[in-house]
Amino acid sequence: MSYETILLETRGRVALITLNRPQALNALNSTVMNELRQVLTAIQSDDAIGAAVLTGSEKAFAAGADIKEMQSLNFIDAYLGDFISGWDDVASFRKPLIAAVSGFALGGGCELAMICDFIIASKTAKFGQPEITLGVIPGMGGTQRLTRAVGKAKAMDLCLTGRMMDAQEAESAGLVARIVEPERLVEEAVAAAEKIAGFSQPAVRMAKEAVNRAFEQTLGEGLRFERRLFHSLFATEDQKEGMAAFIEKRRADFKNR
Ligand code: CAA
Repeated sequence: MSYETILLETRGRVALITLNRPQALNALNSTVMNELRQVLTAIQSDDAIGAAVLTGSEKAFAAGADIKEMQSLNFIDAYLGDFISGWDDVASFRKPLIAAVSGFALGGGCELAMICDFIIASKTAKFGQPEITLGVIPGMGGTQRLTRAVGKAKAMDLCLTGRMMDAQEAESAGLVARIVEPERLVEEAVAAAEKIAGFSQPAVRMAKEAVNRAFEQTLGEGLRFERRLFHSLFATEDQKEGMAAFIEKRRADFKNR
């Protein structure tokens, strides 16, 4: 299957998805959104894939929602059509998804990176929520996910002034997991995804689900949820294999069962 705005490659057990609208700095129009949803649906049901990496170009991960597409939108159409709600499907993707960010990750681009499970950034990455400069506010989760990631002070600063933060600032603030040299970005993200894909997939899925719960409920409820998932993993063959391998000082051979 070929796509207009996305390149899809398989590297081992990892799907590498590259946003490919260079003429618009990977601005996120409805075609990108729909193609990304299709790609993720296909990856979701492909047992040969254990994790995915989402990246852009060296200059831009994505420069935001497509302003040219949005310019003439009116309230009624935006509201009745629930404009950009399709991105929720990306957040519902159950396999690990790593954002490999180089260059601009602005507006919807920053929000898309934050929808991913974690961000590996090149030294050149620049994050921001410049919607305020356009007379709007973030609409793909920027005010919520950014605030949870970096706290109120920086989230307010970015959303109200529209300024960008560089990779270093984003890492210190907790938005970015790792910073790498630009030429190693995709390699490092794919290596991280490959490592994840090699673990027991029930455990990987539950780890993702449990961490995401931390953003949705109280500590007590989250701890109980985690405990129940933890208990359930003792029903898997992979738990027996993983622990036996440790004790026998060998590498675990997980079967995802
Ligand atoms: N939408 C549509 N087109 C975009 C775009 C966007 N978000 N960002 C860049 N482009 C286009 C430009 O219009 C330009 O196209 P033309 O050559 O046809 O004029 C091309 O990409 C290259 O961009 P620039 O010439 O502007 O490149 P630059 O290097 O001078 O500047 C930039 C780079 C600072 C990222 C600048 O492009 C910019 O500020 N882009 C807009 C960023 C922005 O405001 N994003 C938020 C969008 S709103 C949003 O995302 C809402 C939400 O929360 C869902």
